[in-house]
Amino acid sequence: MDGQATELNKTRLPQHLAIIMDGNGRWAKARGMMRTQGHHRGLEILRQTVRDVGELGIPNLTLYSFSSENWSRPQQEINDLMGLLKYFIRKDLAELHTENVKVRIIGRRDDLPDDIAPLIDEAESLTKDNTGLTLMIAFNYGSQDEIARCAAKLAQQAVEGEISPDDITPELIEKNLDTAGVPAPDMILRTSGEQRLSNFLMWQAAYAELVFIDCHWPDFNAQELHNAVAEYQSRDRRYGGVKEGAAS
Ligand code: FPP
Repeated sequence: MDGQATELNKTRLPQHLAIIMDGNGRWAKARGMMRTQGHHRGLEILRQTVRDVGELGIPNLTLYSFSSENWSRPQQEINDLMGLLKYFIRKDLAELHTENVKVRIIGRRDDLPDDIAPLIDEAESLTKDNTGLTLMIAFNYGSQDEIARCAAKLAQQAVEGEISPDDITPELIEKNLDTAGVPAPDMILRTSGEQRLSNFLMWQAAYAELVFIDCHWPDFNAQELHNAVAEYQSRDRRYGGVKEGAAS
């Protein structure tokens, strides 16, 4: 591709990239458009990004599409985001399956509109044995809610005598989070200039490299992805230890 200053090291790609797709509203406003038009454009970029990330060779991708807090938005915008998830699954599921993508939807299910749950089930069951990119869409997702649901599940198991309190370790918690079975993100990218996690993958982010870029999500593209991964590769990851060969 043209204009890429830094070659990426293909042996040091993040194994899990998680993205907070922010800035649809500001992108639309700057163009005198409705916020929902920003989300529509955002969905096109989401599709392209799934392809770009797969082509780059990153095996796990999580995208934050609707947070537990997004219910406070105007009803019209909420309806539109629900509609986009349905549209995405209906329109893209067959192609994602052909491309060997495993689709998972993380987040709370029980307060979603009735017509969404069967679509989510269909997407997950159709693609569950696929071995290519794992695509997790965080929808009606919030970390605090995920951790609280996990705690409730483990408390119930303790009450029923299936586990004892001493069995509750970080590993057991991980197995009971929505993201069970997928490695923690190595890299969390947020577009549009804000520098916070906004209740996204807070447990899983313990050792993630956080990369913030100014570009609004509807302007995100393969070049921005490349630059962000190059930034990730420039970081020195120590996981609380010391660098190999460093003085003690
Ligand atoms: C944040 O921008 C973006 C969202 C809350 C929604 C993200 C949704 C998409 C990218 C498309 C929908 C895809 C699916 C699968 C549902 P913002 O609206 O907070 O922007 P702002 O901060 O500029 O107002």
